[in-house]
Amino acid sequence: MNSERKSIFITGAASGIGLATARLFAGKGWFVGIYDVNEQGLEALVSEIGAENCHSAILDVSDRVAYQSVLKDFGKKTGSRLDVLFNNAGVGTAGLFGDMDFADIEKIIQVNLIGVMIGIHGAYSMLKETPNSLCFTTSSSSGILGVAGLAAYSATKHAVKGLTEALSIELALFDSRAADTLPGQIDTAILPDGIKEHAPKEGMWRLVPAEAVAEVVWASYHDKGGKLHWYVPDDLAELEQIVTTDIEAERNAKKKQFFSYVQRNLPNESD
Ligand code: NAI
Repeated sequence: MNSERKSIFITGAASGIGLATARLFAGKGWFVGIYDVNEQGLEALVSEIGAENCHSAILDVSDRVAYQSVLKDFGKKTGSRLDVLFNNAGVGTAGLFGDMDFADIEKIIQVNLIGVMIGIHGAYSMLKETPNSLCFTTSSSSGILGVAGLAAYSATKHAVKGLTEALSIELALFDSRAADTLPGQIDTAILPDGIKEHAPKEGMWRLVPAEAVAEVVWASYHDKGGKLHWYVPDDLAELEQIVTTDIEAERNAKKKQFFSYVQRNLPNESD
């Protein structure tokens, strides 16, 4: 493998945002590492972009031993070159926190937070060795303001946002960078039932295609200004302002929406 070729390591690559990002970077001539628990999705992607342009493996990001082994295999293919580590795999099981099985809560933390830490820790030496490398992580709008019905998920997305902020300073010691994306509502399989149908047509909560997030990964790698948080859509950045200046008004609006969502989804008496 030619180590002159740029490379990206993508988790959650079989679907949604990870899939769109793999397609975009492969299309631009990058070598693409694609990892997921979804074997069929990975196989389809390998056929699409060509086995010579990628390294793929089934990987549960919460399995540290397996993750380290996959990173090693990826490094063999690229001559230890890693231009972008894209920590993107995530699960978004919804429910009232107290009603959820605790096993589901633990899984959210294992995948969305511990899996991200395992990946960054394991890829650290490759990131350090690759000039101008980027550690890019998918946070969420729920990392700006916690979302009812997604409490554990929101906690993990706040956590990876904080992790990125700290690492963006640490990694600068080595000519490496860290940034994250905070997507609002992206049209992928992770959205809970009933959300797409009720998404507004405009504004920060409109439904956006996964390709828009992939474009942001590309833009972040090529960004010279050191931008830390990438909001998708852009106008979602306003939510940071709103939360800073008037969090109570925003919480009241969200409360109304959440109560009506719960009402709509309560089992009907006649069911
Ligand atoms: P998706 O469900 O289409 O893709 C998630 C991928 O992660 C799937 O292919 C799934 O198999 C994989 N995955 C799940 N658990 C895994 C594990 N343990 N190890 C490896 N792979 C695993 O959903 P989407 O939207 O593309 O999700 C990507 C990221 O975007 C997630 O971190 C999610 O939390 C985040 N996000 C999504 C938003 C949306 O509205 N779709 C909004 C904000 C953030």
